[in-house]
Amino acid sequence: MAPLDEQKGIWKQKGTGKSRKTPKGRQHDDAALEQVRALIGDRPRRRDLLIEFLHLIQDRYGHLSADHISALAHEMRMAQAEIYEVATFYAHFDVIRDGDTPPPALTIRVCDSLSCEMAGARQLKSALEEGLDPAQVRVLRAPCMGRCDTAPVIELGHHHVDNATPEKVMAAVGAGRTHPVIPPYQPLADYAAEGGYRTLADLRGSGDWQAVQEKILSAGLRGLGGAGFPSGRKWGFVRANPGPRYLAVNGDEGEPGTFKDRYLLEREPHVFLEGMLIAAWAVEAEKCFIYMRDEYPAVLHILHKEIEALEKAGIAPAGYIDLRRGAGAYICGEESSMIESIEGKRGLPRHRPPFVAQVGIFDRPTLVHNVETLYWVTRVCREGPEVLSGTERNGRKGLRNYSVSGRVRQPGVHLLPAGSTIADIIEAAGGMLEGHEFKAYQPGGPSSGLLPASIDDVPLDFDTLQPLGSFIGSAAVVVLSDKDRARDAALNMLRFFEDESCGQCTPCRTGCEKAVKLMQADDWDQTLLEDLCDVMADASICGLGQAAPNPIRLVMKHFGDEVGCSAPDARGATSYGNQKGEV
Ligand SMILES: Cc1cc2nc3c(=O)[nH]c(=O)nc-3n(C[C@H](O)[C@H](O)[C@H](O)COP(=O)(O)O)c2cc1C
Ligand code: SF4
Ligand code: FES
Repeated sequence: MAPLDEQKGIWKQKGTGKSRKTPKGRQHDDAALEQVRALIGDRPRRRDLLIEFLHLIQDRYGHLSADHISALAHEMRMAQAEIYEVATFYAHFDVIRDGDTPPPALTIRVCDSLSCEMAGARQLKSALEEGLDPAQVRVLRAPCMGRCDTAPVIELGHHHVDNATPEKVMAAVGAGRTHPVIPPYQPLADYAAEGGYRTLADLRGSGDWQAVQEKILSAGLRGLGGAGFPSGRKWGFVRANPGPRYLAVNGDEGEPGTFKDRYLLEREPHVFLEGMLIAAWAVEAEKCFIYMRDEYPAVLHILHKEIEALEKAGIAPAGYIDLRRGAGAYICGEESSMIESIEGKRGLPRHRPPFVAQVGIFDRPTLVHNVETLYWVTRVCREGPEVLSGTERNGRKGLRNYSVSGRVRQPGVHLLPAGSTIADIIEAAGGMLEGHEFKAYQPGGPSSGLLPASIDDVPLDFDTLQPLGSFIGSAAVVVLSDKDRARDAALNMLRFFEDESCGQCTPCRTGCEKAVKLMQADDWDQTLLEDLCDVMADASICGLGQAAPNPIRLVMKHFGDEVGCSAPDARGATSYGNQKGEV
């Protein structure tokens, strides 16, 4: 046998006579590697930053080519398959295979979740598809963008067009408007001038975390991401586990109809940021992660700027607050899935126990809070527990930011007593639209299903709707009228769950798909649908699959005439909160 350096090819296999001219596997392209390195710069090549790096490539090139994925894998010392698997999980990454045509430079996303569909999103999408050259602009359907009060909504690049019409969208395309409009908000200097961050400074100086926890508990503050877990109690659970500990803010706000977090962040970001730093102080968190949905580009801009201001002012050490950008996956609002995403992985919910308070980010104890929960932490600490507990209505204490949309005159975020009924909420939202008669409502996102107008005297609060087979969740109220069909609304909800199911477990993945098919029949097969609902509710891993049957069951129960169900017998719904009560 000839010496190795005289053999052809770089790999010789002993005795087989077969040789290879290249190492095994796809080899990276040098030019692509240089491009990837230039984008990443001197950032550490950490695995948890993978999604951030994919964003850099997507933002710069408008897609992720096979060459870029292979170059990134080389640079990160990761398998290409792993990067591909992560990138293809998220809707905002366009993975392009060799030989495929990359998407055009402009993308329009048309929201087709419930409030936008009711406001004509489908017709809008068709008009845009007809009026635009697909080689120049692609038109995609997308889930709720958290602007349901100005439905229908589209996103052109990162520019949102509210109350969109084909003419308005064409004008935005013509003018090349692809950047977010930054709303006027309260910057650090103004917030500090009003006494902002004094509470944090006092607590850091001589505060007692247990006294603060007591205050939060006596205010009655409960998790406003939807689970309603008593907020103060979580702090003790997290502290019971040895450090290092982390805090993670859930800013995913993907439940269709919900836009309260965006509303608060676009106005008073520091009330939230101070609450986050108070909670971080209470559990002695080493670091805070903010997971913010990619659909909120203006919020991302504001937070980048204001976190920098906090670092300059010495209120937070450099790098203490790590702002992470989601990539278009509703399931990443489920807390364990959000943690997977923060670690740079696909957002697959984890099995519990262990709970994230014990084993969270990087396997360390993690306190997870919704944006609005932290907003109220600041207000309770500054103004006292009475800011919440001092309001009482219909036997319920507290206040609630209801996101209201649909057939009302003044859709928007309405801060009302937590004991408000749908009648109170419609009144606060200016009443029904001219010519519309109240028929039904979604009390707290699609996971809560639909209730009929006849149930208009129940407080929309935690624990009050469960006997009705529903729950308040994130208080995303959508009002339907006699011009809407409950069955269409329920189908819209199930289509959303079908799109957003992470696919990890069969009852949810297959159940949502089958339900969408069955719900398109004129007369629903009630027995089959009930069987399906039972399996989904009982055997799904996380709240998405467990709560997805709620719209189906409630339509069969209250709107049987629309789906040919003569003997309504829907069982109690699964509370999203049952499983979201996790810590
Ligand atoms: C499918 C699913 C989606 C969720 N989406 C969100 C979300 O977008 N924002 C949020 O804060 N919580 C969401 N949650 C609830 C979180 O899992 C978690 O309970 C919450 O972030 C805890 O914070 P809190 O106690 O302050 O509410 C979701 C839960 C499930 C099951
Ligand atoms: S219930 Fe659905 S979203 Fe949740 S883990 Fe299973 S497949 Fe994923
Ligand atoms: S923005 Fe369209 S439904 Fe929320």
